[in-house]
Amino acid sequence: MRILAIESSCDETAAAIVEGEIPERAEELEKGKNTKKSKEIEKGEKVKKSGRGSAKLKSNIVVSQIDIFKEYGGVIPEVAARSHLEAVLPVIDKAFSEAGLKLENGKNNWDEIDAVAVTNTPGLLGSLLVGTLTARTMAILHEKPLYAVHHLKSHIFSNWIEAEKLPEFPLISLVISGGHTQIIRMEDEESFEIVGTTLDDAVGECFDKVAKILGLEYPGGPSVSRAGADGDAEKYKLPHPKIEGLDFSFSGLKTAVLRAVQKEAKVPISYPSHELKNLLTEKQVDDFSASFEKTAIEILLEKVKKALKMYPETRSILFAGGVSANENLRKMAEKTLNYASCDIFFPKREFSGDNAGMVGMAAYYEILSGKKPTDPRSLKVIPRSEIA
Ligand code: KG4
Ligand code: ZN
Repeated sequence: MRILAIESSCDETAAAIVEGEIPERAEELEKGKNTKKSKEIEKGEKVKKSGRGSAKLKSNIVVSQIDIFKEYGGVIPEVAARSHLEAVLPVIDKAFSEAGLKLENGKNNWDEIDAVAVTNTPGLLGSLLVGTLTARTMAILHEKPLYAVHHLKSHIFSNWIEAEKLPEFPLISLVISGGHTQIIRMEDEESFEIVGTTLDDAVGECFDKVAKILGLEYPGGPSVSRAGADGDAEKYKLPHPKIEGLDFSFSGLKTAVLRAVQKEAKVPISYPSHELKNLLTEKQVDDFSASFEKTAIEILLEKVKKALKMYPETRSILFAGGVSANENLRKMAEKTLNYASCDIFFPKREFSGDNAGMVGMAAYYEILSGKKPTDPRSLKVIPRSEIA
């Protein structure tokens, strides 16, 4: 079974082709025509409960708009939507060609595709509209079932891509991105329970805002990490929020960095924050970066430890989302969670940020579990939502 997946929820335009086995039925399906295959998948009955399966990427194309938004220090939704519009068709064409699915006349070989998957929530409205309208049109035109996939679920499934070992259930996943900070508990591929969430800013957003204060470029995660590598993480003592249970709060940490920078620069709190960077030495920027990064990681891992205590039956701990690319988080997680009798998973670095491979992987498991496709004529886009 092959799935064309499309992702456009924020500032990356991405398309991928994911090829998955349907256990016990693989042989039977290979004999059939692709159109028949699509119809069978659509019904959902035959594939239901057919086993764990396995899938791999045939292509994974990502066009990032980061270079555009570096100039602005953040994403501008209207600009992002326009860029998606320009990139989406070439990106899909490239996904077909890299997967070796071009016809001799150069057209995309749709006979080899059995389903289309797309991110429909959450994300920027204009960005989501471009990806979903493209996917809906293609599904209708080529008569393929359409699967609408939740972006956070896709991030979790990035841990299945090219994994040496697959995660085991029940699992706990820390989804940390520019828009979300959540602890999600899964009993199996299709059950999601949000057991912790941020009450204000997401951790990636906090990295981005701190970077802006320090005069480091967007996106903040990688630039704070780079600056912090030369800094003293003990130099500035930053507070850990006192939040009950498994919820998070990151806006206090961002404000604490702002106040500490103002103090160090000897200016009042009314001083324009975008000018603070001009008052800091390189050493101070490095030390602030290192101290902030260390504190943010400690806050995240404290909650993961708490979650493990609350759910001792957990067999795997997964990290997912753009922030999971963070090198120090990876090191600290291995160190501080090694007492637990469960495996720790991080996605391969190239799959931690937004990509369509993870969308195709999540859709593959939805198909395996017998989920019905969405009617392409009535697919809804939901900018803000939680996993239900
Ligand atoms: O998952 P993602 O690519 O997009 C969203 O769904 O939001 O995450 C983007 C976020 C940004 O806030 C970015 O600063 C952060 O991930 N990020 C990092 C690192 N790489 C990206 N944060 C910390 N360390 C990194 N190495
Ligand atoms: Zn994301």
